Amino acid sequence: MGRKPYPEGTRDKFAVSGFNSAASDGGPRGSVSIFDTTLRDGEQSPGIALNPDDKIAIARALDDLGIDYIEAGFAGSSDLEKDIVRSIGKLGLEATVCTLARSVRADIDAALEADLGYVHTFIATSDIHMRSKLKMSPVEVKAAAVDSIEYARDHGLRVMFSCEDATRSDLAFLKDVCLAAQDAGAECINIPDTVGVIAPKAMGLLVKELCSVLRVPVSVHCHNDLGLALANTLAAVDNGATMVQGTVNGIGERAGNVALEEVAVDLYAFYGIETLDLSKISAVSQTVGRITAFPMAPNKPIVGRNAFSHEAGIHVHGVMNDPATYEPFRPEVVGADRHFVVGKFSGSSMVGAKLKRLGIRFPEERMPELMEAVKRFSVADKEISDAELETIAYDILWKGADAESPCRLEEMTVITGMSTTPTATVKLSLPDGTTATQAETGVGPVDAALNAIRRAMHPGMTLEEYKVSAITGNSDSLCQVVVTLKNVQGDGRLAFGRAIGPDIVQASVDAMMAAINRDYASVRRERREY
Ligand code: KIV
Ligand code: ZN
Repeated sequence: MGRKPYPEGTRDKFAVSGFNSAASDGGPRGSVSIFDTTLRDGEQSPGIALNPDDKIAIARALDDLGIDYIEAGFAGSSDLEKDIVRSIGKLGLEATVCTLARSVRADIDAALEADLGYVHTFIATSDIHMRSKLKMSPVEVKAAAVDSIEYARDHGLRVMFSCEDATRSDLAFLKDVCLAAQDAGAECINIPDTVGVIAPKAMGLLVKELCSVLRVPVSVHCHNDLGLALANTLAAVDNGATMVQGTVNGIGERAGNVALEEVAVDLYAFYGIETLDLSKISAVSQTVGRITAFPMAPNKPIVGRNAFSHEAGIHVHGVMNDPATYEPFRPEVVGADRHFVVGKFSGSSMVGAKLKRLGIRFPEERMPELMEAVKRFSVADKEISDAELETIAYDILWKGADAESPCRLEEMTVITGMSTTPTATVKLSLPDGTTATQAETGVGPVDAALNAIRRAMHPGMTLEEYKVSAITGNSDSLCQVVVTLKNVQGDGRLAFGRAIGPDIVQASVDAMMAAINRDYASVRRERREY
């Protein structure tokens, strides 16, 4: 397929177990080709529907990735689908473009009408499918398989044939149908684990058995219902399969198909087999993710957001010394980046290194304060973004200027809801040693809380300016509140306060208290200086 060999040094970027080679079941037979069904089985995922432009964009990305066969759709399902499949066939891709077809002549005709040169025919061979779905006898099933393959061959098409639900079929019948399909002209026999029900050892035995009777290449198509799609695919390759079917990001019916990015990385990691262009994996995964809008688990292997993210101090330290300590391979192999995540398990050396990278000069002696704030703000396993870390650091530096707090908020209750007037009650301890308790209403909970503090402090105190900003785009992200007060002590002075936190009411109140304390601190300073 004219693939470029992997760049020199790629092997050195992997650090997998030395036990793998010792445990191989005879090992794969040379090269493995990759058959992608993102546009057919992948589109069958509940929640995914692709328009023609989407499909064309994905087909181009798959071709760029080095896919050998692209199943562009199911031409016999509708005229629109046939048109899309035809357009993809005409893109001039390097990959061989094909369509799925049931073992009926009408579907072969649809493949011909779509101007394709390759068709993937299938029919179920398990008792349960023949009895409950097809309502056909084994003899009829075999005859339909042979007839459609011969019909396709007679019309000049290349054919791959699949025994749907092969892994729950009777072995003697399965072999009989596969041999008949081979004799009828199928150039490749695909063994689908349609419902994801086989275990890796059994898959290995089944493929070995079929390879021993067939002369054409054997392919596998593994679904992930029991979480074994990848293990079964590798077991099949280890026992002689030379083609793998799957989808990008593992999308597909129910729990999905085997994820081709995992197949490509693992074939190289465990057997040194070169298939897709690994360096394009992240980009293509993102393209497919964006177009399908199918959510991906952050811990998805190879392409998940967390695949190369490290948070725990011990791990970060190890990776900083040598990435192989906690990474099976370097992220750049698949075009990804490594992330050091700031969160509640972070150590101060990584946070310090991150601050340096952000260009923030943060005093070493105040790191414990910063780490305490990081842990406090990363409640509920929240990750602290770079922007949030920067804000927390500056907030600590800013507060450092006026460490005294003669006024303290001792208690606060805020009541809000629908059809109720937002009301706040606060109790403040004041610089003269007394306390003040006040209640106020407002247009919302923030307004009510700030009004109550104003009333408790000084009747003439006014809020000259109030600004709030979310530091990142989520509803649980930190927000920053900046306030300017006038007349905190009835002397017409302006005082400025700032605070951050995940709760907007608390951050607003903290900013107001910071401004009040700042006002007291600066009056004291002036008096001392005077
Ligand atoms: O899962 C399956 O059996 C299939 C076939 C049509 C190949 O998708
Ligand atoms: Zn399938």
